[in-house]
Amino acid sequence: MKKQKIEIQLEVFETVSELPKDIQELMNKAQQARENAYAPYSRFRVGAALRLASGEIVLGSNQENAAFPSGLCAERVAVFSAGANFPNETITDLAITVRAESHEVTEAIAPCGACRQSLAEYEQKQKSPINIYFTGETGEIIKVASVMDLLPLGFDAKYL
Ligand code: THU
Repeated sequence: MKKQKIEIQLEVFETVSELPKDIQELMNKAQQARENAYAPYSRFRVGAALRLASGEIVLGSNQENAAFPSGLCAERVAVFSAGANFPNETITDLAITVRAESHEVTEAIAPCGACRQSLAEYEQKQKSPINIYFTGETGEIIKVASVMDLLPLGFDAKYL
């Protein structure tokens, strides 16, 4: 038996104003997208904005359903929309933010496991990493430079 350690790199920004200008713009778009969430059940709004290499910005927000598992997270709405509408374009950056109706979310909220899996597929498909920035309603912003930092030991197409 041997033990192995997996390390991931995070960058932590204290405020949105510390982010590069183009990422501030992307985070603003994610905040706007958040308000289009359809979240009558959880009352937890999530907004996602991704930038393509062409400069195009694609938005997503969580869309819930009375049959709960039929709903979809903001990140997958955004990445599936990009895949459907811009199938050959590279995703460079993704910004994610949340707003809960019952309390102020002051910590950075990372994408759920299923979204990490979906994002990883597109990163592998395009063969270049996606910078992911995630935050709460307020508080710090965390950056990872690849989906792989959020999904070590993931499953992918090479095993099929
Ligand atoms: N949600 C997202 O949109 N992204 C995530 O990564 C986690 C959760 C949504 C799903 C549901 O509409 C609400 O947040 C509460 O789970």
